[in-house]
Amino acid sequence: MRKNKDTSTNSEEEKKKVKLSLKNIKKSLRLFKYVKPHLGTFIIGLIFLVLSSLASMIFPYLTGQLVDAANQEILEKINDIALVLLGVFLLNAVFSYFRIYLFAIVTQKTLASLRQATYDHLIRLKMQFFSERRVGELNSRISSDISLLQETLTTTIAEFIRQILIIFIGIVLLSMISGKLTLLMLALVPLVVVIAVIFGKKIKGFSKKAQDEIASSNIIVEETLQGIATVKAFVNEGFEYLRYKKKTDEIIGISLKGAKWRGAFASFIIFCLFGSIIAVIWYGVILVQADQLTIGDLFTFILYSVFVGASLGGIADLYSQLQKAIGATENLLEILDEEKEESNASSELKIEKGKVDFEEVSFAYPSRSDIQILKDVSFSIEAGQQIALVGPSGAGKSTITSLILRFFNINKGQIKIDDIAIEDYSLHNLRSAMAIVPQDVILFGGTIFENILYGNPKANKEEVEAAATKANAIEFIHSFPEGFETIVGERGIQLSGGQRQRIAIARAILKNPKILILDEATSSLDSQSEKLVQEALEELMKNRTSLVIAHRLSTIQKADKILVLNDGKIVESGTHEELNSKEKGLYKDLKHLQMGV
Ligand SMILES: Nc1ncnc2c1ncn2[C@@H]1O[C@H](COP(=O)(O)OP(=O)(O)O)[C@@H](O)[C@H]1O
Ligand SMILES: [Mg+2]
Repeated sequence: MRKNKDTSTNSEEEKKKVKLSLKNIKKSLRLFKYVKPHLGTFIIGLIFLVLSSLASMIFPYLTGQLVDAANQEILEKINDIALVLLGVFLLNAVFSYFRIYLFAIVTQKTLASLRQATYDHLIRLKMQFFSERRVGELNSRISSDISLLQETLTTTIAEFIRQILIIFIGIVLLSMISGKLTLLMLALVPLVVVIAVIFGKKIKGFSKKAQDEIASSNIIVEETLQGIATVKAFVNEGFEYLRYKKKTDEIIGISLKGAKWRGAFASFIIFCLFGSIIAVIWYGVILVQADQLTIGDLFTFILYSVFVGASLGGIADLYSQLQKAIGATENLLEILDEEKEESNASSELKIEKGKVDFEEVSFAYPSRSDIQILKDVSFSIEAGQQIALVGPSGAGKSTITSLILRFFNINKGQIKIDDIAIEDYSLHNLRSAMAIVPQDVILFGGTIFENILYGNPKANKEEVEAAATKANAIEFIHSFPEGFETIVGERGIQLSGGQRQRIAIARAILKNPKILILDEATSSLDSQSEKLVQEALEELMKNRTSLVIAHRLSTIQKADKILVLNDGKIVESGTHEELNSKEKGLYKDLKHLQMGV
C-alpha cells in the first residue's frame, strides 16, 4: 500500500504541496502551541537578535566614516571612530551570546515537549494504526523529523528574521546615502527574487524526494538488523545488501539532480552579486567624480550592498530549510491528528467476575475489510472456567483474543463481559482485568525484576519474588550471579524461550487478572521446559477465567470446554471426552495428525 503511494503519486503530491503552501504554513503554526509556554524567552531572544543585527548594520557606516576621516587626515576623529567601532563589536558579541543561548532554551524545551506529546499520542493510537505502518517509519518520525525541526527552531528562523532585517534596514540606509545608486541596485533585485522563487520550488521537490528515499533506506537497515539471525540463517546478506544498495543508489540520483539545481542557483546568485557590485562601483565612482558622493560614502554603500546581497543569497537557502521543516511538521501533525484509541475514559465500571460471552460476533480487520475473519462466532465462558480454543493456524484464534482485549472493534454481534457490553467498560478497566501470555514474549531492556514488575508496577519485592516462585522461574533466576538484577533484553543476557515464558507468567501472576489469555504459550518449547511452564500455567489458571489457545492438544484435555475453530467459525465444541468419542470431526482429525496416526 505504501509502495504505491511512494512511486505513482509522488509528482501529484508535489504539485499539491506547492499550491497549498500557505495552508501548510498555517497548519505548521499549530505546532506553535508547544512554543507558547516559552514565548517570553523567545521574545527576549528576538530582541537580542534585532539588537545584534542593528549593531552589525552600524559597522559599514562607521567604516565609511573612518575612510573619510583618513581621507581628510583628522587623527582625533580616526581614533574616536575606531573606539566606537570596537564598542559596537563588543556589544554585538554580547547580544549574539544571549540570542543564541535564549533561542537554544526555547528550542530544547519546545522540542522536548513536542517529542513527549508525539510519543504519548503515538502509543495511545489504535492498534489498526500500527498494523498499517512499519516500526522504522514511525521511529524516524520521532527522531529525524523532530531533529529537522530543531535546526529550524535554533538557527533557521532566527537567521531568516536577521536576513530580512538586514535587507530592509540595508535598503533604507542605502537610499539615505544615495538614491540614484540605490535605484540602480534595486533594478537588479526583483530579477534575482523571481528566479530565486523558481529555483526554490525545484529544489524543495528534490529534497523532499531525497528525504523520503533516505527514510525508506533506513527502514531496510532497521528491518534487517532486527531480523539479522534470519538474514544470516538464510544466507541472504547479499540480497539485503542489494536491496539497500538499490535504495541508496536511487538517493544518489535524486540528490545529484537536486545538487545541480542548487549549484546552478548558487552560481546564479554569485553572478548577480558580483555583477551588481561591479555595476555599483562603476556608477559610484562616476558620482564621486561629480562630487555627489564622498569616497567614505561609496565605501559604506558597497559594504551595505554586500550585506544585502549576501542576505538575499542566504535567504533562498533558509527558505528551502523552512520548506523542509514544514514537510517535517506535516508528518508529525499526521500522527498527532490520528484518532486515539479512547478519548472518553469516564466509565467507572469494573470487571468483577470474568464471565465472557461472544454473541454472533463477526469481524474483519479494518485494513482488509473485505475478508471476514470471524463469522457469527458464539460461545460463553463462565467465570472461573477454563476454555480451550483449538484449530488450524489462520483460523482466527489470536483474533478472538485481540477482540477480548478490544484491540479492535467488532463489526457485528456483541461481546459481553460479566453480562455487560465490552464497549461500556473503559479500556483501562477492561485491560486491567486481563493478562495475556503470548507465544513470543517480548522482554523490555532492564532487569528481570523490572520485567516482572511490569505486570503491576505497584507491587513490592516480596510479591515479585512470590510471583517468580509460582511461575517456576525462581530457580533459573537464582542461577544468574545477579539474580533478579540480571539485565535482559537487547543489551542484556539472552534468555531461552522457556525462561522468557516463565517471566511472562510471573508478570501475569503479579497482575492477578480476572481473565487470563494464553496464546500458544507453550507451543515453541521443548518438552522439559514445557513441563515447567505447564505447571506454572496451571498455578496461574487457578480461580480465574482462562482462555487457552493450544497447539498441542495434550495440554488441554482437562479444560471445561474445548472450542474448535475453523475458517472463522466454531465447528465443534464440548469436553475432550465428548469430542473424542465422536465418529469423526476436526478435533479428532487434529488429534490424529499430532499423534502421527
Ligand atoms: N492485523 C491484521 N490485519 C489483517 N489481517 C490479519 C491481522 N492479523 C491476522 N490477520 C489475518 O486474520 C486471519 C486469522 O489470523 P489469526 O487470528 O492470527 O489466526 P490463528 O491465531 O488462528 O492462527 C489470518 O488470515 C491472518 O492473516
Ligand atoms: Mg495465533
